Amino acid sequence: MQGTSQPTPALPPSLTLAPRSSDASTVMGATSRARTRRRLGAMTVAAAVAAVAAAAAAAPRVAATSLRFPRPAARLGTAASNDGGRGSDPAALPASICTPTADGGCGKAIPVVVEPTVAATGGSLHPLARPDGAAAAHVERQGSRPGPSVCAALGAPCSVARPCCAGGASACVKDTMIGRGIPHCAYDIGAFRGTTLVPKSRWDLSTPAFASTVRELPRAGFDCVALTFYAFMDTLESTSFHYNFSTAGEPVSADPSSIVSAIGKIHAAGMCVILKPHIAIETREWRGYVNASAPFFNAYRSWVLGWVEVAQRNRVEAFAIGSEWKRVEQDDASWRRIIREARARYSGYLCYGTNWDAYKTLPFTDALDFVATSAYFEVAPPPKPWPALPTRHSYETVLNGWKRVVWEMDGWQRTTAPDKPIVFIEAGVRSVVGAASYPWESQPPQDRSDTVDLWGQAQFYNAMFEAVAPYTWWRGQFSWEWLWGPATAKSGGPTGTGYSVQGKPAEGVLRRRISGWTQRALPLAVANQGVEEPRPLRMTFPKTPL
Ligand SMILES: *[C@@H]1O[C@H](CO)[C@@H](O)[C@H](O)[C@H]1NC(C)=O
Ligand SMILES: *[C@@H]1O[C@H](CO)[C@@H](O)[C@H](O)[C@H]1NC(C)=O
Repeated sequence: MQGTSQPTPALPPSLTLAPRSSDASTVMGATSRARTRRRLGAMTVAAAVAAVAAAAAAAPRVAATSLRFPRPAARLGTAASNDGGRGSDPAALPASICTPTADGGCGKAIPVVVEPTVAATGGSLHPLARPDGAAAAHVERQGSRPGPSVCAALGAPCSVARPCCAGGASACVKDTMIGRGIPHCAYDIGAFRGTTLVPKSRWDLSTPAFASTVRELPRAGFDCVALTFYAFMDTLESTSFHYNFSTAGEPVSADPSSIVSAIGKIHAAGMCVILKPHIAIETREWRGYVNASAPFFNAYRSWVLGWVEVAQRNRVEAFAIGSEWKRVEQDDASWRRIIREARARYSGYLCYGTNWDAYKTLPFTDALDFVATSAYFEVAPPPKPWPALPTRHSYETVLNGWKRVVWEMDGWQRTTAPDKPIVFIEAGVRSVVGAASYPWESQPPQDRSDTVDLWGQAQFYNAMFEAVAPYTWWRGQFSWEWLWGPATAKSGGPTGTGYSVQGKPAEGVLRRRISGWTQRALPLAVANQGVEEPRPLRMTFPKTPL
């Protein structure tokens, strides 16, 4: 798809399937220079072995040889432990977590609070959200959902006689400060309790393991899935895309038909879907380095609009029109054109996933329904240069780092995107020592660590939730990532060093933190079937005066 002609959107399955090659591996939005693992010094190995042994001893139900975690249903019955999360099951809902000591031991216990604030407040502003007293919106909740004949559409005037009925969470909102006091239907958006599913082979989404994982996710507290999948460019300069089903490296493409069937399975489990197509480069360089060009956009437009149509046909709730194209995203006009064309084909929510350091510079935020940024913020000071080993950070350090990040985001949101909620479309950190300094780093390079630190990961999540809780613009997160299939070192459990939270204290933190939320972020498109044509849905958000 090159040149200046206007190709009609190709359906995703029609992509060229050409053999390509590469070796290194990264899936995260970060540079991925080839890296050599440094053999850890004798002391570090000893410390790692001790930490692993201690963690394994603390979690007898998760045998090292079968890392595939207790089933969530079993875990949900476990009483919350108040022993720093060191009960029999690291993923049980912990009342507190350890802040790690320098040698990896359990230091001070940090409370893990249930935060009903975010979603339970619905469309109204949390009292802490605007310390300057700008709280504006008044929400009149409607009673039970009426039949189709009396429904008012989103944005239309509403009343008790003519209530809103797009899904269970609509509200009749009277925006007293800027909405001229006319009650209108707005969606009470709540917050995403999301996680990310990424297929690791062509038919991974069609396996029984995937089906049972999807059925288990709601029981673990999740209500939405960011379904992430890959096509490839040969090099940073390429202007065409292909699938690569080879499992020799990561990431890998999934068969398009399996993506469609996965959407159905996720919906059937009662969860919403954000479809999130990614492009990777066969050289494993980061797509953030690709430059904008007309041939690139022709190819991208054709590819992504094909998936937009798949999303529409399969009633996908939200679509990420791009992800971490840090240079390409500066071509404002080209993206606005793609967004216009996507809107013409698709009636769900549109977002764009920025890199964690780029949400402020995306030129077309106003054209999207919500801000979606990855949240690999560097919340701890940078590691000392090699050969110094990374240090374990205190909870205060990580929390203060998060508060700084969120304070800055709040200032930006008020002045630049006051009508946009913000979603952490990817959030997480590896469970290794010092990772809060560089959460975006998916591979341990020379001067960094591969020593397991379950508490470090748990406190990263806990501090994130604690820092964002006061802000109503924050509308949830999609943890990166949830795995299924055969256990690997990345899968989870007490010896896992990857991003997965499964079977680790961070899973308990996540589940406890979201357990008090009452609103889901999006109505299920499938749930609206037959009630009314529920589209177009646009996310509305309590606006504050400038
Ligand atoms: C696909 O990716 C693998 C693993 O990165 C690589 O070895 C192979 O050459 C690529 N082949 C195809 C089919 O494009
Ligand atoms: C992108 O553009 C910059 C600035 O012109 C240039 O330095 C860089 O080499 C280009 N990168 C690619 C991959 O073409």
